[in-house]
Amino acid sequence: MSRVVVFNEFGGPEVLQIVEEPVAVPAAGELRIKIEAIGINRLDQMMRSGSYPGPVHLPRSRLGCEGTGLVDAVGSAVEGFSVGDAVIVTAVPDMDVNGTYAEYVLMPANAVIARPEGLDATSAAALWVAYSTAYGALVEKAKMQPGDHVVITAASSAVGLAAIQIANLIGAIPIAITRHAAKKDILLAAGAAVAVATDRDDVVDVVREYTHGAGADIILDSVMGPGLVDLAKVAKFGGTLVAVGWLDPRPAEFPMNWPLTIFGYMSFEHVLDSEVVHRIATFLSAGIRTGALKPTVDKVFRLDDIVDAHHYLDQGQQVGKIVVTL
Ligand SMILES: NC(=O)c1ccc[n+]([C@@H]2O[C@H](COP(=O)([O-])OP(=O)(O)OC[C@H]3O[C@@H](n4cnc5c(N)ncnc54)[C@H](OP(=O)(O)O)[C@@H]3O)[C@@H](O)[C@H]2O)c1
Repeated sequence: MSRVVVFNEFGGPEVLQIVEEPVAVPAAGELRIKIEAIGINRLDQMMRSGSYPGPVHLPRSRLGCEGTGLVDAVGSAVEGFSVGDAVIVTAVPDMDVNGTYAEYVLMPANAVIARPEGLDATSAAALWVAYSTAYGALVEKAKMQPGDHVVITAASSAVGLAAIQIANLIGAIPIAITRHAAKKDILLAAGAAVAVATDRDDVVDVVREYTHGAGADIILDSVMGPGLVDLAKVAKFGGTLVAVGWLDPRPAEFPMNWPLTIFGYMSFEHVLDSEVVHRIATFLSAGIRTGALKPTVDKVFRLDDIVDAHHYLDQGQQVGKIVVTL
């Protein structure tokens, strides 16, 4: 049997419960993976609470778009994987049906990559969603170049910290934004060239001064809300804003500061494309190998404590990824 997290109604963390289901046999083209560790994402909270804009099928909805483990069984017509291989799941578009919060999952083999050498299961669970989102938004979408000034909001999030590391690896200059002055030193230690705390600093003044009046080439925004006003003001003439999240759901004005290219980015745009997945996986493996990329794990919970893990997620104070191990 496989222990699986499900929920029958939308609500707080308490709606999550663990049930037992039979372990399924992989169909042609599928792998069965024994999950070792799960990455917890903001998307999980949105689905659980009912704020996710896409369909979520109740009752017995599952959860989880990120996980790593060992191949446990190989379906027919699968090449390149064997039982015992350490792997990472790259895409779960139907997570309410096939989410990774489970002991065993079935995945199409083309939605799985090899776990980079030297990465333990806990760190591997913190890798794919954060780094593929930051890479896709900054490199594939915004065409980040060495020397670019890159403003990163919610910089202490897993996506934000991944963006700092990827910007540094490429030779761009990460400018990290947090709401709390207490987190500035953490962000500087994580590689930010400069850290801005919205509870103390004026974002526009700091970024303008740091870029000698030019403004930021790229803005990676996970927050939106009223903070967009300042972000529009710090964008360089001809710059790019990539919005990847909306942590602050309040309505916002967006002052005219054109020309400015604006993208709304969903990583599913790339993680379902095997060519891009190959590019991202190769980039990440090289970064892990050299030590330039190092996933930041904030706190680790056990699957039995999934309700506590979601309470912690709801608080939104973490630095890096919350991981659940089995
Ligand atoms: N587009 C995609 O494909 C994609 C994929 C993955 C994630 N995302 C998005 O990326 C963002 C980060 O996700 P994550 O899972 O790495 O981390 P997360 O748990 O969503 O972010 C945690 C951090 O966000 C900041 N934060 C929380 N609430 C905020 C608010 N109301 N206003 C401003 N900042 C707030 C906090 O940093 P401070 O306390 O330092 O301010 C907190 O430490 C989310 O918006 C998520 O939806 C998008």
